[in-house]
Amino acid sequence: MKILFLNGPNLNLLGQREAEVYGRSTLADIEAKVRSRAQTLHVEVEFRQTNLEGELVDWIQQAKTKSDVIVLNAAAYTHTSIALRDAIVAAGVPTIEIHLSNIHAREEFRHKSLIAPVCRGQILGFGANSYILALEAYISVNAHQVSSAFQELTMNFSISLP
Ligand code: DQA
Repeated sequence: MKILFLNGPNLNLLGQREAEVYGRSTLADIEAKVRSRAQTLHVEVEFRQTNLEGELVDWIQQAKTKSDVIVLNAAAYTHTSIALRDAIVAAGVPTIEIHLSNIHAREEFRHKSLIAPVCRGQILGFGANSYILALEAYISVNAHQVSSAFQELTMNFSISLP
C-alpha cells in the first residue's frame, strides 16, 4: 500500500512558525516519525511539501495512478481552494484531511474547510500526531473493508454450496 502525504503552504516553516499553535517539531521531524511508524505497519509512504496551490493540484491528479490514499494538510488552501477540492474528486483517491491545530477552535475563517466534504475523514488538533493518527486510521479502515469483503465472499460461497 502506498500513502502519499501532501503538505501545503508555510508547513516548511514548522518548528519556527507560531510554535505555540503548531508545536516545535519541524516537517522533517514529522516525516521521520511517519516513516518509522509506516515501516512497522509495512506501508510505503511518500512525503512532499509545496507552497504552490497548482503543484498540490498536480500531485493529487498524479496520485490517481500511483497512490492508494492521500493524507493532505492543505494548510491555508483548506479554507480557500475549490481547485484542490475538484482535484480530490477527479483523482478519486481516498483522502484524509489533517491539521496540526484544531481549526474549529481558532479564527472563524479557519472553521470552514472546502475540502472536508470530499475527504474520507478529518483528523485535527493533535499536533504532529495528527499525521500518525491519519496513517493508522486509513490502515484500520482499509483492513476493516478487506475483512468485510472476505466475510461477504465466504458467506456467498457457503450459501451457494448444496
Ligand atoms: C493548518 C491550519 C490552517 O488553518 C493553517 O493555515 C495552516 C496549518 C494546521 O495544520 O493546523 O497553515 O493546516
